[in-house]
Amino acid sequence: ALMGIDVGTSGVKVVVIDRGGRTLGQATVGYEVSQPQPLFAEQNPEDWWEATCAAIRLALGRSGLGGEDIAAVGLTGQMHSLVTLDASGAVVRPAILWSDQRTEAECAEIHERVGFEQTIEWVANPALTNFTATKLLWVRQHEPDLYARIRHVLLPKDYIRYRLTGEFATDVSDASGTLWFDVKHRRWSDEMVAALEVPKDWLPRVYESPEVSGRVSEGAAAKTGLRAGTPVAAGGGDQAAGAVGNGIVRKGAVSSTIGTSGVVFAHADEIVRDEKGRLHTFCHAVPGKWHVMAVTQSAGGSLQWFRNQFADAERAVAAQTGRDVYDLLGEEARRVPAGSEGLVFLPYLMGERTPHLDPQAKGVFFGITARHERAHFVRAIMEGVAFSLRDGLQLMEDLELPVEEIRVSGGGAKSDVWREIQAGVFGRPVVAIAANEGPAFGAAILASVAANVFSDVLTAVDAWVSVESTTEPVAADRAAYEEAYRVYRALYPALKSIYR
Ligand code: XUL
Repeated sequence: ALMGIDVGTSGVKVVVIDRGGRTLGQATVGYEVSQPQPLFAEQNPEDWWEATCAAIRLALGRSGLGGEDIAAVGLTGQMHSLVTLDASGAVVRPAILWSDQRTEAECAEIHERVGFEQTIEWVANPALTNFTATKLLWVRQHEPDLYARIRHVLLPKDYIRYRLTGEFATDVSDASGTLWFDVKHRRWSDEMVAALEVPKDWLPRVYESPEVSGRVSEGAAAKTGLRAGTPVAAGGGDQAAGAVGNGIVRKGAVSSTIGTSGVVFAHADEIVRDEKGRLHTFCHAVPGKWHVMAVTQSAGGSLQWFRNQFADAERAVAAQTGRDVYDLLGEEARRVPAGSEGLVFLPYLMGERTPHLDPQAKGVFFGITARHERAHFVRAIMEGVAFSLRDGLQLMEDLELPVEEIRVSGGGAKSDVWREIQAGVFGRPVVAIAANEGPAFGAAILASVAANVFSDVLTAVDAWVSVESTTEPVAADRAAYEEAYRVYRALYPALKSIYR
Protein backbone atom coordinates (compact mmCIF):
# COMPACT_ATOMS: atom_id res chain seq x y z
CA ALA A 1 0.00 0.00 0.00
CA LEU A 2 0.94 3.67 -0.34
CA MET A 3 0.64 6.49 2.18
CA GLY A 4 -0.17 10.15 1.55
CA ILE A 5 0.35 12.82 4.22
CA ASP A 6 -1.24 16.27 3.89
CA VAL A 7 0.02 18.89 6.36
CA GLY A 8 -2.96 21.22 5.97
CA THR A 9 -3.94 24.48 7.62
CA SER A 10 -6.70 23.04 9.81
CA GLY A 11 -5.05 19.67 10.44
CA VAL A 12 -2.94 16.86 9.07
CA LYS A 13 -4.60 14.10 7.08
CA VAL A 14 -3.02 10.72 6.42
CA VAL A 15 -4.44 8.21 3.92
CA VAL A 16 -3.45 4.62 3.23
CA ILE A 17 -4.30 3.55 -0.33
CA ASP A 18 -4.07 0.04 -1.78
CA ARG A 19 -2.49 -0.68 -5.16
CA GLY A 20 -5.91 -0.48 -6.80
CA GLY A 21 -6.37 3.11 -5.60
CA ARG A 22 -8.90 2.29 -2.85
CA THR A 23 -8.71 3.91 0.58
CA LEU A 24 -7.88 1.38 3.28
CA GLY A 25 -7.73 3.82 6.16
CA GLN A 26 -7.48 7.51 6.86
CA ALA A 27 -7.06 9.78 9.86
CA THR A 28 -7.17 13.51 10.45
CA VAL A 29 -5.68 15.21 13.52
CA GLY A 30 -6.54 18.91 13.84
CA TYR A 31 -4.70 21.95 15.11
CA GLU A 32 -5.47 25.65 15.37
CA VAL A 33 -4.14 28.76 13.63
CA SER A 34 -2.89 31.39 16.06
CA GLN A 35 -3.63 35.03 15.18
CA PRO A 36 -1.46 37.04 17.59
CA GLN A 37 -2.38 40.26 15.73
CA PRO A 38 -4.92 41.15 13.04
CA LEU A 39 -3.73 39.80 9.65
CA PHE A 40 -1.15 37.54 11.36
CA ALA A 41 -1.46 33.75 11.10
CA GLU A 42 1.03 31.35 12.69
CA GLN A 43 1.45 27.71 13.67
CA ASN A 44 4.11 25.78 15.50
CA PRO A 45 5.84 23.23 13.21
CA GLU A 46 6.32 20.96 16.22
CA ASP A 47 2.51 20.67 16.43
CA TRP A 48 2.40 19.50 12.80
CA TRP A 49 4.94 16.81 13.61
CA GLU A 50 3.13 15.58 16.71
CA ALA A 51 -0.17 15.53 14.78
CA THR A 52 1.50 13.73 11.88
CA CYS A 53 2.90 10.99 14.11
CA ALA A 54 -0.51 10.49 15.71
CA ALA A 55 -2.33 10.49 12.35
CA ILE A 56 0.11 7.98 10.79
CA ARG A 57 -0.46 5.58 13.68
CA LEU A 58 -4.24 6.03 13.51
CA ALA A 59 -4.39 5.58 9.72
CA LEU A 60 -2.22 2.46 9.86
CA GLY A 61 -4.40 1.06 12.64
CA ARG A 62 -7.62 1.77 10.75
CA SER A 63 -6.28 0.19 7.57
CA GLY A 64 -5.26 -2.95 9.46
CA LEU A 65 -1.73 -2.64 8.11
CA GLY A 66 1.72 -2.33 9.63
CA GLY A 67 4.51 0.03 8.63
CA GLU A 68 6.16 -2.79 6.65
CA ASP A 69 3.16 -2.82 4.27
CA ILE A 70 3.77 0.77 3.12
CA ALA A 71 5.85 0.79 -0.09
CA ALA A 72 6.36 4.57 -0.11
CA VAL A 73 5.12 7.76 1.53
CA GLY A 74 4.14 10.93 -0.38
CA LEU A 75 4.05 14.38 1.18
CA THR A 76 1.86 17.40 0.55
CA GLY A 77 0.76 20.40 2.57
CA GLN A 78 -0.18 24.03 2.84
CA MET A 79 2.04 26.04 0.51
CA HIS A 80 4.18 29.14 1.04
CA SER A 81 4.28 29.05 4.88
CA LEU A 82 7.77 29.88 6.20
CA VAL A 83 9.53 27.39 8.51
CA THR A 84 12.90 28.55 9.89
CA LEU A 85 15.46 26.18 11.44
CA ASP A 86 18.78 26.85 13.19
CA ALA A 87 22.06 24.99 12.68
CA SER A 88 20.90 22.14 14.93
CA GLY A 89 17.63 21.75 13.02
CA ALA A 90 15.53 23.29 15.80
CA VAL A 91 12.62 25.60 14.89
CA VAL A 92 13.63 29.27 15.27
CA ARG A 93 10.15 30.88 15.42
CA PRO A 94 6.55 29.85 14.72
CA ALA A 95 5.81 29.32 11.03
CA ILE A 96 4.36 32.39 9.32
CA LEU A 97 1.49 30.95 7.30
CA TRP A 98 0.42 31.43 3.68
CA SER A 99 -2.71 33.25 4.88
CA ASP A 100 -0.72 35.77 6.94
CA GLN A 101 -0.95 39.27 5.45
CA ARG A 102 1.71 41.20 7.39
CA THR A 103 4.19 41.62 4.51
CA GLU A 104 2.75 44.35 2.31
CA ALA A 105 5.80 46.56 2.93
CA GLU A 106 8.16 43.71 2.00
CA CYS A 107 6.27 43.15 -1.28
CA ALA A 108 6.65 46.83 -2.13
CA GLU A 109 10.33 46.61 -1.23
CA ILE A 110 10.89 43.67 -3.59
CA HIS A 111 9.10 45.42 -6.45
CA GLU A 112 11.15 48.51 -5.76
CA ARG A 113 14.48 46.69 -5.63
CA VAL A 114 13.86 44.19 -8.43
CA GLY A 115 11.01 45.74 -10.40
CA PHE A 116 7.56 44.22 -11.03
CA GLU A 117 8.32 43.05 -14.56
CA GLN A 118 11.75 41.72 -13.65
CA THR A 119 10.19 39.76 -10.77
CA ILE A 120 7.74 38.13 -13.17
CA GLU A 121 10.60 37.51 -15.61
CA TRP A 122 12.73 35.74 -12.99
CA VAL A 123 10.17 33.81 -10.94
CA ALA A 124 7.00 33.98 -13.12
CA ASN A 125 5.00 35.70 -10.36
CA PRO A 126 4.89 39.06 -8.58
CA ALA A 127 5.70 39.54 -4.89
CA LEU A 128 2.54 38.73 -2.93
CA THR A 129 2.12 38.74 0.85
CA ASN A 130 1.45 34.99 0.71
CA PHE A 131 4.80 34.06 -0.77
CA THR A 132 7.60 32.74 1.44
CA ALA A 133 10.34 35.21 0.46
CA THR A 134 8.30 38.16 1.77
CA LYS A 135 7.94 36.45 5.14
CA LEU A 136 11.67 35.88 5.49
CA LEU A 137 12.30 39.56 4.70
CA TRP A 138 9.84 40.44 7.46
CA VAL A 139 11.77 38.34 9.98
CA ARG A 140 15.01 39.97 8.88
CA GLN A 141 13.49 43.42 9.34
CA HIS A 142 11.58 42.88 12.58
CA GLU A 143 13.37 40.08 14.41
CA PRO A 144 17.09 40.43 13.61
CA ASP A 145 18.14 38.28 16.58
CA LEU A 146 16.02 35.39 15.42
CA TYR A 147 17.04 35.98 11.81
CA ALA A 148 20.71 35.65 12.78
CA ARG A 149 20.07 32.09 13.99
CA ILE A 150 18.44 30.85 10.75
CA ARG A 151 20.38 28.27 8.72
CA HIS A 152 17.54 26.53 6.84
CA VAL A 153 14.20 27.59 5.42
CA LEU A 154 11.56 25.00 4.61
CA LEU A 155 7.91 24.69 3.61
CA PRO A 156 5.46 22.82 5.88
CA LYS A 157 5.50 19.41 4.20
CA ASP A 158 9.27 19.69 3.87
CA TYR A 159 9.61 20.18 7.60
CA ILE A 160 7.76 16.88 8.03
CA ARG A 161 10.14 15.34 5.47
CA TYR A 162 13.05 16.63 7.55
CA ARG A 163 11.59 15.00 10.67
CA LEU A 164 10.90 11.75 8.80
CA THR A 165 14.17 11.45 6.87
CA GLY A 166 16.67 14.07 8.07
CA GLU A 167 16.81 15.49 4.50
CA PHE A 168 16.43 19.16 3.57
CA ALA A 169 14.44 18.88 0.35
CA THR A 170 11.41 20.22 -1.49
CA ASP A 171 9.70 19.71 -4.84
CA VAL A 172 9.25 21.99 -7.85
CA SER A 173 5.54 22.75 -7.27
CA ASP A 174 5.96 23.92 -3.68
CA ALA A 175 9.26 25.71 -4.47
CA SER A 176 7.30 27.70 -7.09
CA GLY A 177 5.35 29.44 -4.33
CA THR A 178 8.40 30.83 -2.55
CA LEU A 179 9.30 33.63 -5.03
CA TRP A 180 12.88 32.30 -4.98
CA PHE A 181 12.23 29.77 -7.76
CA ASP A 182 12.86 29.99 -11.49
CA VAL A 183 9.57 28.37 -12.50
CA LYS A 184 10.53 28.24 -16.17
CA HIS A 185 13.77 26.32 -15.63
CA ARG A 186 12.58 24.41 -12.55
CA ARG A 187 15.52 25.41 -10.28
CA TRP A 188 16.25 28.09 -7.68
CA SER A 189 16.56 31.52 -9.28
CA ASP A 190 20.15 32.60 -8.65
CA GLU A 191 19.18 36.14 -9.65
CA MET A 192 16.28 36.44 -7.20
CA VAL A 193 18.07 34.66 -4.37
CA ALA A 194 21.01 37.06 -4.81
CA ALA A 195 18.77 40.12 -5.12
CA LEU A 196 17.03 39.26 -1.84
CA GLU A 197 20.34 38.36 -0.17
CA VAL A 198 19.29 34.88 0.89
CA PRO A 199 22.24 32.53 1.50
CA LYS A 200 21.80 29.85 -1.16
CA ASP A 201 22.69 27.08 1.31
CA TRP A 202 19.60 27.92 3.38
CA LEU A 203 17.44 26.56 0.55
CA PRO A 204 16.56 22.86 0.34
CA ARG A 205 17.42 20.58 -2.56
CA VAL A 206 14.70 20.48 -5.25
CA TYR A 207 13.19 17.36 -6.82
CA GLU A 208 10.44 16.64 -9.32
CA SER A 209 7.38 15.51 -7.36
CA PRO A 210 7.40 11.70 -7.89
CA GLU A 211 11.15 11.37 -7.19
CA VAL A 212 12.43 9.70 -4.03
CA SER A 213 13.79 12.42 -1.71
CA GLY A 214 14.95 10.31 1.23
CA ARG A 215 14.08 7.40 3.51
CA VAL A 216 12.38 7.12 6.88
CA SER A 217 15.01 7.17 9.66
CA GLU A 218 15.20 4.76 12.61
CA GLY A 219 14.12 7.51 14.98
CA ALA A 220 11.12 8.50 12.86
CA ALA A 221 10.19 4.85 12.43
CA ALA A 222 10.02 4.48 16.20
CA LYS A 223 7.75 7.54 16.51
CA THR A 224 5.39 6.79 13.59
CA GLY A 225 5.20 3.04 13.20
CA LEU A 226 6.55 3.29 9.66
CA ARG A 227 9.39 0.96 8.61
CA ALA A 228 12.89 2.48 8.67
CA GLY A 229 14.09 2.82 5.08
CA THR A 230 10.63 3.46 3.56
CA PRO A 231 11.13 5.80 0.56
CA VAL A 232 9.59 9.27 0.84
CA ALA A 233 8.53 10.87 -2.46
CA ALA A 234 9.24 14.57 -2.95
CA GLY A 235 5.48 15.20 -3.19
CA GLY A 236 3.87 18.53 -4.01
CA GLY A 237 2.19 21.66 -2.69
CA ASP A 238 -1.39 20.89 -1.69
CA GLN A 239 -2.82 22.47 -4.82
CA ALA A 240 -0.59 20.58 -7.26
CA ALA A 241 -0.94 17.29 -5.37
CA GLY A 242 -4.69 17.85 -5.04
CA ALA A 243 -4.86 18.38 -8.80
CA VAL A 244 -3.03 15.11 -9.42
CA GLY A 245 -5.56 13.36 -7.18
CA ASN A 246 -8.33 15.02 -9.12
CA GLY A 247 -6.95 14.02 -12.50
CA ILE A 248 -6.01 17.58 -13.53
CA VAL A 249 -2.99 16.41 -15.51
CA ARG A 250 -3.90 17.25 -19.11
CA LYS A 251 -4.67 20.37 -21.11
CA GLY A 252 -8.28 21.56 -20.74
CA ALA A 253 -8.69 20.07 -17.26
CA VAL A 254 -9.57 22.62 -14.57
CA SER A 255 -10.49 22.15 -10.93
CA SER A 256 -12.33 24.19 -8.34
CA THR A 257 -11.27 23.27 -4.83
CA ILE A 258 -12.75 24.63 -1.62
CA GLY A 259 -10.53 23.93 1.39
CA THR A 260 -9.58 26.68 3.84
CA SER A 261 -8.64 28.56 0.66
CA GLY A 262 -10.47 28.30 -2.67
CA VAL A 263 -8.53 27.51 -5.81
CA VAL A 264 -9.26 27.37 -9.52
CA PHE A 265 -6.41 25.37 -11.06
CA ALA A 266 -5.59 24.63 -14.71
CA HIS A 267 -2.99 22.26 -16.14
CA ALA A 268 -0.61 23.74 -18.74
CA ASP A 269 1.78 21.88 -21.05
CA GLU A 270 3.85 25.06 -21.49
CA ILE A 271 4.57 27.86 -19.06
CA VAL A 272 1.79 30.50 -19.20
CA ARG A 273 2.43 33.86 -17.54
CA ASP A 274 -0.06 36.57 -16.63
CA GLU A 275 1.86 39.81 -17.19
CA LYS A 276 -0.34 41.51 -14.58
CA GLY A 277 0.49 38.78 -12.07
CA ARG A 278 -3.12 38.08 -11.10
CA LEU A 279 -2.85 34.31 -11.65
CA HIS A 280 -0.04 32.21 -10.18
CA THR A 281 2.21 30.35 -12.61
CA PHE A 282 3.82 27.37 -10.90
CA CYS A 283 5.46 24.05 -11.79
CA HIS A 284 3.02 21.16 -11.71
CA ALA A 285 3.62 17.96 -9.75
CA VAL A 286 3.62 16.25 -13.17
CA PRO A 287 7.28 16.35 -14.22
CA GLY A 288 7.97 18.88 -16.97
CA LYS A 289 4.47 20.46 -16.80
CA TRP A 290 3.11 23.68 -15.33
CA HIS A 291 -0.13 24.99 -13.96
CA VAL A 292 -1.84 28.30 -13.35
CA MET A 293 -4.11 29.01 -10.44
CA ALA A 294 -6.37 31.64 -8.94
CA VAL A 295 -6.61 31.70 -5.14
CA THR A 296 -9.44 32.90 -2.88
CA GLN A 297 -7.91 33.46 0.55
CA SER A 298 -10.88 32.54 2.69
CA ALA A 299 -13.23 30.02 1.06
CA GLY A 300 -14.01 27.09 3.35
CA GLY A 301 -12.34 29.40 5.87
CA SER A 302 -15.34 31.75 5.59
CA LEU A 303 -17.84 29.02 6.41
CA GLN A 304 -15.57 27.79 9.18
CA TRP A 305 -15.57 31.29 10.65
CA PHE A 306 -19.39 31.34 10.55
CA ARG A 307 -19.51 27.89 12.14
CA ASN A 308 -17.21 28.97 14.94
CA GLN A 309 -18.93 32.30 15.67
CA PHE A 310 -22.62 31.84 14.86
CA ALA A 311 -23.53 28.16 14.66
CA ASP A 312 -23.84 27.15 18.33
CA ALA A 313 -27.19 25.51 17.62
CA GLU A 314 -25.82 23.30 14.84
CA ARG A 315 -22.74 22.47 16.85
CA ALA A 316 -24.95 21.33 19.72
CA VAL A 317 -27.05 19.16 17.39
CA ALA A 318 -23.91 17.76 15.80
CA ALA A 319 -22.46 16.90 19.21
CA GLN A 320 -25.68 15.09 20.16
CA THR A 321 -26.36 13.24 16.94
CA GLY A 322 -22.88 12.73 15.55
CA ARG A 323 -23.90 14.58 12.38
CA ASP A 324 -21.50 16.90 10.56
CA VAL A 325 -21.97 20.61 11.35
CA TYR A 326 -21.31 21.50 7.71
CA ASP A 327 -24.07 19.12 6.55
CA LEU A 328 -26.48 20.87 8.91
CA LEU A 329 -25.41 24.29 7.58
CA GLY A 330 -25.84 22.97 4.03
CA GLU A 331 -29.43 21.97 4.81
CA GLU A 332 -30.12 25.51 5.98
CA ALA A 333 -28.60 26.99 2.84
CA ARG A 334 -30.88 24.78 0.76
CA ARG A 335 -33.98 26.42 2.26
CA VAL A 336 -32.95 29.74 0.70
CA PRO A 337 -33.40 30.50 -3.01
CA ALA A 338 -30.44 31.10 -5.36
CA GLY A 339 -29.17 34.66 -4.98
CA SER A 340 -30.00 34.65 -1.24
CA GLU A 341 -32.75 37.21 -1.93
CA GLY A 342 -30.29 40.01 -2.46
CA LEU A 343 -27.82 39.23 0.32
CA VAL A 344 -24.30 39.25 -1.13
CA PHE A 345 -21.12 38.19 0.71
CA LEU A 346 -17.55 39.22 -0.11
CA PRO A 347 -15.29 36.47 1.36
CA TYR A 348 -12.32 38.74 2.02
CA LEU A 349 -11.81 37.72 5.66
CA MET A 350 -8.04 37.38 5.18
CA GLY A 351 -7.66 40.07 2.53
CA GLU A 352 -7.97 38.81 -1.04
CA ARG A 353 -5.57 37.39 -3.56
CA THR A 354 -7.20 36.66 -6.95
CA PRO A 355 -8.28 38.86 -8.60
CA HIS A 356 -7.69 41.94 -6.41
CA LEU A 357 -4.24 41.16 -4.85
CA ASP A 358 -5.28 43.32 -1.90
CA PRO A 359 -4.28 42.29 1.64
CA GLN A 360 -6.43 45.14 3.02
CA ALA A 361 -9.70 43.90 1.53
CA LYS A 362 -12.27 42.94 4.19
CA GLY A 363 -15.33 40.70 4.30
CA VAL A 364 -18.75 42.23 3.65
CA PHE A 365 -22.42 41.24 3.87
CA PHE A 366 -24.27 43.60 1.58
CA GLY A 367 -27.98 44.04 1.05
CA ILE A 368 -29.28 42.94 4.46
CA THR A 369 -33.01 43.54 4.94
CA ALA A 370 -35.39 42.70 7.77
CA ARG A 371 -36.55 39.75 5.71
CA HIS A 372 -33.22 37.93 5.87
CA GLU A 373 -32.78 35.03 8.26
CA ARG A 374 -29.63 33.36 9.47
CA ALA A 375 -29.93 30.71 6.73
CA HIS A 376 -29.57 33.45 4.11
CA PHE A 377 -26.19 34.32 5.57
CA VAL A 378 -25.06 30.71 5.26
CA ARG A 379 -26.10 30.54 1.63
CA ALA A 380 -24.67 33.97 0.86
CA ILE A 381 -21.28 32.78 2.17
CA MET A 382 -21.38 29.75 -0.13
CA GLU A 383 -22.40 31.92 -3.08
CA GLY A 384 -19.81 34.61 -2.34
CA VAL A 385 -17.03 32.00 -2.34
CA ALA A 386 -18.32 30.67 -5.69
CA PHE A 387 -18.34 34.24 -7.09
CA SER A 388 -14.71 34.65 -6.10
CA LEU A 389 -13.85 31.36 -7.84
CA ARG A 390 -15.76 32.57 -10.90
CA ASP A 391 -13.51 35.65 -10.94
CA GLY A 392 -10.58 33.23 -11.16
CA LEU A 393 -12.16 31.22 -13.98
CA GLN A 394 -12.82 34.43 -15.86
CA LEU A 395 -9.13 35.37 -15.68
CA MET A 396 -8.21 31.98 -17.15
CA GLU A 397 -10.62 32.49 -20.00
CA ASP A 398 -9.14 35.97 -20.56
CA LEU A 399 -5.71 34.31 -20.93
CA GLU A 400 -7.33 31.91 -23.43
CA LEU A 401 -6.63 28.84 -21.35
CA PRO A 402 -9.04 26.13 -22.47
CA VAL A 403 -11.60 25.15 -19.81
CA GLU A 404 -13.11 21.89 -21.04
CA GLU A 405 -14.27 20.40 -17.78
CA ILE A 406 -14.44 21.68 -14.20
CA ARG A 407 -13.80 19.14 -11.46
CA VAL A 408 -14.81 20.11 -7.94
CA SER A 409 -13.09 18.89 -4.80
CA GLY A 410 -12.67 19.64 -1.11
CA GLY A 411 -15.49 20.66 1.21
CA GLY A 412 -17.18 22.44 -1.70
CA ALA A 413 -17.51 19.12 -3.53
CA LYS A 414 -18.70 17.08 -0.56
CA SER A 415 -21.63 19.44 0.01
CA ASP A 416 -24.52 18.85 -2.49
CA VAL A 417 -25.71 22.42 -2.18
CA TRP A 418 -22.25 23.96 -2.60
CA ARG A 419 -21.70 21.79 -5.71
CA GLU A 420 -25.01 23.04 -7.11
CA ILE A 421 -24.11 26.63 -6.28
CA GLN A 422 -20.78 26.27 -8.08
CA ALA A 423 -22.45 24.80 -11.19
CA GLY A 424 -25.03 27.59 -11.09
CA VAL A 425 -22.56 30.42 -10.58
CA PHE A 426 -20.11 29.07 -13.20
CA GLY A 427 -23.02 28.45 -15.58
CA ARG A 428 -21.69 25.02 -16.50
CA PRO A 429 -21.69 21.46 -15.18
CA VAL A 430 -19.20 20.48 -12.49
CA VAL A 431 -17.81 16.98 -12.11
CA ALA A 432 -16.80 15.21 -8.90
CA ILE A 433 -14.48 12.23 -8.79
CA ALA A 434 -15.03 9.06 -6.80
CA ALA A 435 -13.55 8.73 -3.30
CA ASN A 436 -11.67 11.99 -3.28
CA GLU A 437 -9.44 12.16 -0.24
CA GLY A 438 -8.00 15.49 -1.39
CA PRO A 439 -4.30 16.36 -1.63
CA ALA A 440 -3.33 13.36 0.55
CA PHE A 441 -4.66 11.10 -2.22
CA GLY A 442 -2.56 12.97 -4.79
CA ALA A 443 0.47 12.54 -2.53
CA ALA A 444 -0.21 8.78 -2.42
CA ILE A 445 -0.31 8.78 -6.25
CA LEU A 446 3.10 10.48 -6.30
CA ALA A 447 4.32 7.86 -3.79
CA SER A 448 3.04 5.08 -6.08
CA VAL A 449 5.31 6.35 -8.85
CA ALA A 450 8.23 6.70 -6.41
CA ALA A 451 7.67 3.05 -5.43
CA ASN A 452 7.56 2.00 -9.12
CA VAL A 453 4.00 0.73 -8.84
CA PHE A 454 3.38 2.91 -11.92
CA SER A 455 5.87 4.19 -14.46
CA ASP A 456 4.65 7.80 -14.38
CA VAL A 457 2.04 10.15 -12.92
CA LEU A 458 -0.35 10.01 -15.90
CA THR A 459 -0.48 6.22 -15.85
CA ALA A 460 -1.14 6.27 -12.11
CA VAL A 461 -3.91 8.86 -12.50
CA ASP A 462 -5.57 6.85 -15.27
CA ALA A 463 -5.51 3.76 -13.06
CA TRP A 464 -6.78 5.39 -9.87
CA VAL A 465 -8.94 8.40 -10.68
CA SER A 466 -12.50 8.01 -11.98
CA VAL A 467 -15.45 10.36 -12.32
CA GLU A 468 -18.34 9.77 -9.95
CA SER A 469 -21.01 12.38 -10.62
CA THR A 470 -21.90 15.44 -12.67
CA THR A 471 -23.92 18.34 -11.25
CA GLU A 472 -25.73 20.46 -13.87
CA PRO A 473 -26.61 24.13 -13.33
CA VAL A 474 -30.29 24.71 -12.54
CA ALA A 475 -31.59 26.77 -15.46
CA ALA A 476 -34.24 28.54 -13.37
CA ASP A 477 -31.53 29.92 -11.02
CA ARG A 478 -29.44 31.49 -13.76
CA ALA A 479 -30.88 35.02 -13.61
CA ALA A 480 -30.65 35.22 -9.81
CA TYR A 481 -26.98 34.22 -9.82
CA GLU A 482 -26.15 36.65 -12.62
CA GLU A 483 -27.79 39.50 -10.76
CA ALA A 484 -26.03 38.63 -7.49
CA TYR A 485 -22.68 38.32 -9.31
CA ARG A 486 -23.24 41.76 -10.89
CA VAL A 487 -23.65 43.26 -7.40
CA TYR A 488 -20.66 41.25 -6.13
CA ARG A 489 -18.46 42.62 -8.91
CA ALA A 490 -19.51 46.19 -8.21
CA LEU A 491 -18.83 46.06 -4.47
CA TYR A 492 -15.03 45.74 -4.34
CA PRO A 493 -14.29 48.79 -6.55
CA ALA A 494 -16.82 50.79 -4.52
CA LEU A 495 -15.17 49.83 -1.22
CA LYS A 496 -11.50 49.78 -2.20
CA SER A 497 -10.68 53.25 -0.93
CA ILE A 498 -12.50 52.64 2.39
CA TYR A 499 -10.47 49.50 3.11
CA ARG A 500 -7.23 51.51 3.35
C1 XUL B 1 -2.11 28.29 -2.54
C2 XUL B 1 -2.40 28.66 -1.13
C3 XUL B 1 -3.32 27.84 -0.37
C4 XUL B 1 -2.59 26.93 0.55
C5 XUL B 1 -3.61 26.22 1.37
O1 XUL B 1 -1.41 29.29 -3.20
O2 XUL B 1 -1.94 29.61 -0.60
O3 XUL B 1 -4.15 27.10 -1.20
O4 XUL B 1 -1.77 26.07 -0.21
O5 XUL B 1 -3.16 25.13 1.99
